[in-house]
Amino acid sequence: MVNNMLSTFHELVTDDPHSPLNFRNVFRDELYRLSLIESLGEDVNSVYVDEFGRDVSKEEMYIATVEGMMKCAIEIDWRDFFPYLSWVPNRSYEARVFSAIGRKNAVMRALVKQQKERIARGEARKSYLDFLLAESELTDDEQLTLLVWEVLVESADTTLVTAEWAMYELAKNPDKQARQLLFFLTPRARTRERLYQEIREVCGDETVTEEHLPRLPYLNAVFHETLRRHSAVTLLPPRFIHEDTVLAGYDVPANTEVVVNVYACNMNKEEWDSPEEWAPERFLDGRFEAASMHKTLAFGGGRRTCAGARQATTIACTAMARFVQEFTWRLREGDEDKVDTVQLTSYKLHPLQVHLTPREKN
Ligand code: HEM
Repeated sequence: MVNNMLSTFHELVTDDPHSPLNFRNVFRDELYRLSLIESLGEDVNSVYVDEFGRDVSKEEMYIATVEGMMKCAIEIDWRDFFPYLSWVPNRSYEARVFSAIGRKNAVMRALVKQQKERIARGEARKSYLDFLLAESELTDDEQLTLLVWEVLVESADTTLVTAEWAMYELAKNPDKQARQLLFFLTPRARTRERLYQEIREVCGDETVTEEHLPRLPYLNAVFHETLRRHSAVTLLPPRFIHEDTVLAGYDVPANTEVVVNVYACNMNKEEWDSPEEWAPERFLDGRFEAASMHKTLAFGGGRRTCAGARQATTIACTAMARFVQEFTWRLREGDEDKVDTVQLTSYKLHPLQVHLTPREKN
């Protein structure tokens, strides 16, 4: 996946060296491709959907299974704020939500059907669907489709959000200076070059692989600081309080739903020095153990903690390291303060636009 992205970056830079490129488009396409392979066993390019009576392209699949559902999840039903009016119909809300869910279900059913036919032909592959069909006792098709969709959407979304923010932070300071001049660079440029320096020291001329990751502490700090400053999931899924309890000094009665505000926790000045600053070094000053990086709660906590944290860490860190190993990154001029977010998971409102320079040309 990373090799494909690097090839595309090289092509885009060669075709038009002076224009910034759209990072998200490249990362999104490759990550979705990987998510399809992981969940279904195949990089599906199109699928016939009975309910639509036609083939659906990969772009449409992405919108139905990922983007549309993320938008749907933040649709607001005003009746939630006035429960005593819950009997009032809210047809436009219901139409939007139910039609998005209907489209997602239709596409997912078609994708699962297509792959079941492959499995029936004896072409087993390594995928979540293959695993569920071979190893689980699931017989309910609706549940099967829902489980496969969960992995598809989870693997295609938050890793992209996090990688984009990390590369935005690393690219933020334009610098054309050699890394030997580290001392003269601005703090942000030093951060990026420090990462490159660490990679050089640990990997030399070798390409970074998953195996190198445990020996790249600065890279790990960049990842966790990005998760802190730009948490992809800003509000954890609700927790149900089963019995009267005391939480952070507050009495919480049984049957309450509690939503942890991860963004507020990570911006709390009592917990973090200069929380609004993106500073990976904070994790390397000796006060943090490896496990305390999870203090950011970016992957949630407890029994329902993120099932894909390891996968996300491996993919994002390997990709970031390879990106920095291969190119120097510079933001499009004027984009330095574009930190607004949009959608359920904190997508950059303005997709990252960067100028890349291949390292060997430096
Ligand atoms: C940087 C990337 C990611 C972030 C920030 C993230 C964050 C989260 C968060 C905050 C939760 C809720 C946890 C809780 O309620 O305590 C969650 C749940 C989950 N995540 Fe992730 N996630 C990421 C990547 C992934 C990937 C790559 C996958 C799958 C391949 C995945 C699969 C899941 C699943 C299945 C759950 C539900 C777990 C359950 O309810 O038992 N996540 N994730």
